[in-house]
Amino acid sequence: MAGRTTLLSLLATAGLVHTAVVVPDPALASRQSGATVTVDLSKTYQTIDGFGTSEAFQRAVQMSKLPETEQRKALNLLFSTTKGAGLSILRNGIGSSPDMSSDHMVSIAPKSPGGPNKPLVYSWDGSDNKQLWVAQEAQHTYGLTTLYADAWSAPGYMKTNGNDANGGSLCGVSGASCSSGDWRQAYADYLVRYIQFYNEANVTITHVGFLNEPELTTSYASMRSNGQQAADFIKVLYPTLQKTNLTSQVQIACCDAEGWSSQSGMLSSLRSVDDQLGIVISHSYTSSPGSPMNTKHRVWQTEAADLNGAWTATWYGSGGAGEGMTWANNIYQAVVNANCSAYLYWIGVQGGDTNSKMVRITNNAVQPSKRLWAFGQWSRFVRPGAVRVAASGAPSGVKAAAFRNVDGSVAVQFINSGSGAAKVNVKVNGGDGDALTVAKAWFTDNSHDIAEMDAAVSGGMAGASIPSRSMATILLSGVAT
Ligand SMILES: *[C@@H]1O[C@H](CO)[C@@H](O)[C@H](O)[C@H]1NC(C)=O
Ligand SMILES: *[C@@H]1O[C@H](CO)[C@@H](O)[C@H](O)[C@H]1NC(C)=O
Ligand SMILES: *[C@@H]1O[C@H](CO)[C@@H](O)[C@H](O)[C@H]1NC(C)=O
Repeated sequence: MAGRTTLLSLLATAGLVHTAVVVPDPALASRQSGATVTVDLSKTYQTIDGFGTSEAFQRAVQMSKLPETEQRKALNLLFSTTKGAGLSILRNGIGSSPDMSSDHMVSIAPKSPGGPNKPLVYSWDGSDNKQLWVAQEAQHTYGLTTLYADAWSAPGYMKTNGNDANGGSLCGVSGASCSSGDWRQAYADYLVRYIQFYNEANVTITHVGFLNEPELTTSYASMRSNGQQAADFIKVLYPTLQKTNLTSQVQIACCDAEGWSSQSGMLSSLRSVDDQLGIVISHSYTSSPGSPMNTKHRVWQTEAADLNGAWTATWYGSGGAGEGMTWANNIYQAVVNANCSAYLYWIGVQGGDTNSKMVRITNNAVQPSKRLWAFGQWSRFVRPGAVRVAASGAPSGVKAAAFRNVDGSVAVQFINSGSGAAKVNVKVNGGDGDALTVAKAWFTDNSHDIAEMDAAVSGGMAGASIPSRSMATILLSGVAT
């Protein structure tokens, strides 16, 4: 795994952290008229794995065709904690297609070996639809530690319909028998080989999935599965990861259902493999994360997007589905109300004129949307391993959430939907609040992208004014751990 850089050292590198100086704050009197938001470090909730996106379906190929300076700009926008969103999770697509036509993700074993007991014939091209390049950059240049690799389908020759597209099921799971035999072990070997190809290229995959929207039959790579059928495969995949010594590196993720309700509905059938399952994953299309799922596993929201809206780079206008503040709120809902440990957008960088990407490619250059900065306002300050803690007392029209990072800093997130600024004073209980020495703050609104703003510590409280219609973060350090 790549070395972890602490948030504070990143900020220090960027010249954003000054040594602790507590000066009397002239604006304190007015700030103290604001609401007191109490953060309670002793009341803990879920651990956060991060925020992320994907460059699957040849979107990484699109990135690789940009001029080099734009490639770097694109990578910075996604992964840099000083120049971009500081995303901390990348989701790769494990190919199942026999070719690379259109946006197909080519398989690492495109031709049938002739039967499930014959060795698979691999052809690793060292590119993986350019996803290897993006993943190498993510891990080695930007220090990402979480890489989720997901197969939308098994190759066609392992399926009931003989095609990686158009639904069909994996031969050998309940209710899916094929004259060619049971392909579950072959599919498990296939996924393991993909992980090993990445290991050989010095990229560490940490989570593996074998389904995508398994309720959906569609013209691109797709494979049907219910919860029982997923469990039937996990029973084979887990021991295969064990045999190849990968269980300490990789967790099994299931099942990327189209929406929260349908993923929740699969959980009872997955209980038989609870000890082999790593994380529960779901998309937000047919129903979005509203309340916690009934599982002991961490839950990630792995795909959400405004798929059809015309491109907008607006933060706040009419509350539209593609606006930045809408996404700041969507993430809040998932993390605070639905116990999510991660939240991923569907596509980072891509061409075209819809909102189904955070950054668009236009005229051979990249242009960020405010969706990107909404993710950044979360991801730059709530780093992997952070634990959500209680936050209460936000003024009316303002949402608040708090997180203690691994480095001891505390990020307090605010979304102010009101038309006026909201003054807040943050008090930290459950640690040594008096030890608060540094408060820094940043905000995003229609005309700012994670811009620094005033914040000051006085009398053990951190005060700031949250601009109207903005998301802002107050980052406190010096909180005893
Ligand atoms: C992987 O890392 C090793 C050791 O640092 C190095 O020798 C090797 O060239 C790297 N391989 C690739 C494909 O980058
Ligand atoms: C797994 O690890 C054990 C202990 O380190 C080692 O003996 C064995 O050869 C490894 N197996 C594989 C397939 O790498
Ligand atoms: C939230 O998720 C964690 C796992 O990350 C789990 O242990 C906990 O029980 C969940 N909380 C609720 C309220 O469901």
